Amino acid sequence: MDLQNFSMSPKPSLICIFFIIITSSVNYILSLDPKFQACVPYTCGDGPNISYPFWILHEQEPFCGNPNFTIICKDKNPVLTIASDDYIMKDIFYSNQSFLVANAAIYKETCPAPLHNVSLDHTPFNFSLYCSDFSIFYNCTSKPNYPIYDLVCASNSTLHSFAVFHKEALELHNCSSDWCQSFVDVPMDVHNGVNFTSLLLMNYTDVLKMGFSLNWSVHDCNSCEKSSG
Ligand SMILES: *[C@@H]1O[C@H](CO)[C@@H](O)[C@H](O)[C@H]1NC(C)=O
Ligand SMILES: *[C@@H]1O[C@H](CO)[C@@H](O)[C@H](O)[C@H]1NC(C)=O
Ligand SMILES: *[C@@H]1O[C@H](CO)[C@@H](O)[C@H](O)[C@H]1NC(C)=O
Ligand SMILES: *[C@@H]1O[C@H](CO)[C@@H](O)[C@H](O)[C@H]1NC(C)=O
Ligand SMILES: *[C@@H]1O[C@H](CO)[C@@H](O)[C@H](O)[C@H]1NC(C)=O
Ligand SMILES: *[C@@H]1O[C@H](CO)[C@@H](O)[C@H](O)[C@H]1NC(C)=O
Ligand SMILES: *[C@@H]1O[C@H](CO)[C@@H](O)[C@H](O)[C@H]1NC(C)=O
Ligand SMILES: *[C@@H]1O[C@H](CO)[C@@H](O)[C@H](O)[C@H]1NC(C)=O
Ligand SMILES: *[C@@H]1O[C@H](CO)[C@@H](O)[C@H](O)[C@H]1NC(C)=O
Ligand SMILES: *[C@@H]1O[C@H](CO)[C@@H](O)[C@H](O)[C@H]1NC(C)=O
Ligand SMILES: *[C@@H]1O[C@H](CO)[C@@H](O)[C@H](O)[C@H]1NC(C)=O
Repeated sequence: MDLQNFSMSPKPSLICIFFIIITSSVNYILSLDPKFQACVPYTCGDGPNISYPFWILHEQEPFCGNPNFTIICKDKNPVLTIASDDYIMKDIFYSNQSFLVANAAIYKETCPAPLHNVSLDHTPFNFSLYCSDFSIFYNCTSKPNYPIYDLVCASNSTLHSFAVFHKEALELHNCSSDWCQSFVDVPMDVHNGVNFTSLLLMNYTDVLKMGFSLNWSVHDCNSCEKSSG
């Protein structure tokens, strides 16, 4: 009898504990919208918090953002692909819908030499007001008498490669892009407050790492509704 009582007695309390667990977890689930929970801001480790309209592939659900704003985490960095180039998101300003990016290749390659212009066609992004061109000239037969950034790794004694701000100024220095086999324009942020003296002391790679800002517009309001705000 004693043994049976002993073995019976835990059951009511076990049921009670189960009941408490079930009711409390039901309350927990009801109190938080699961879609909202799936979309809380997230970081890749380094860099800014990612939230709507941006969303992180494999970490968050597609309904958290817009397909044009898909972020992939690579080596702890948030990476956005624009016209098949990868850009590291250095900062995102949700208040004025803009973000600062730098081409991911600059961080990987020993001789980063962008070979095409940045195209924002068919994207919801646009260059910000601060954007100014940093132009890279390749395989030139001569170098201008003008402040330039040497691309030592892409030059030899007969063919020079270099970068300049304000390529328009080169013409005043009797330079012509005809001296060069090709050139590309890289967008750069140049604010009024930029110190050109310190900018000219930097090397080519460090200038490229400063990055440039883009702003965005979201036209499709279906997706903001789907994201539950
Ligand atoms: C991301 O958000 C969390 C929570 O609001 C905050 O503590 C953290 O500082 C933010 N990180 C960045 C890089 O803004
Ligand atoms: C993505 O961006 C393009 C260009 O702005 C736009 O035509 C398209 O509707 C956008 N897609 C979504 C789902 O917002
Ligand atoms: C980008 O900005 C220009 C003017 O600054 C405007 O004409 C153009 O429509 C904008 N493009 C997008 C996709 O917002
Ligand atoms: C957006 O806001 C940030 C932070 O206030 C500011 O640093 C940045 O210059 C602004 N960008 C534009 C394009 O207005
Ligand atoms: C982005 O910046 C451009 C240039 O300053 C401006 O014309 C455009 O209205 C901005 N777009 C948004 C969505 O803020
Ligand atoms: C520079 O010249 C070399 C050799 O002719 C060529 O391989 C390379 O593609 C050229 N670079 C550019 C950017 O034109
Ligand atoms: C410089 O590079 C070009 C293209 O790679 C090559 O044709 C030329 O012979 C090189 N000149 C010297 C002096 O190495
Ligand atoms: C450019 O060339 C013109 C005519 O050959 C000359 O008068 C002028 O001094 C040159 N300018 C510079 C900056 O070398
Ligand atoms: C980049 O754009 C400029 C015009 O802004 C053009 O002259 C140049 O040829 C373009 N470069 C390439 C590689 O398409
Ligand atoms: C600009 O940078 C140089 C070198 O870093 C420094 O000596 C100079 O004081 C700076 N000028 C201003 C106006 O900040
Ligand atoms: C550029 O300067 C940084 C330090 O500011 C240095 O670490 C880097 O090696 C330099 N790169 C080149 C290509 O000289």
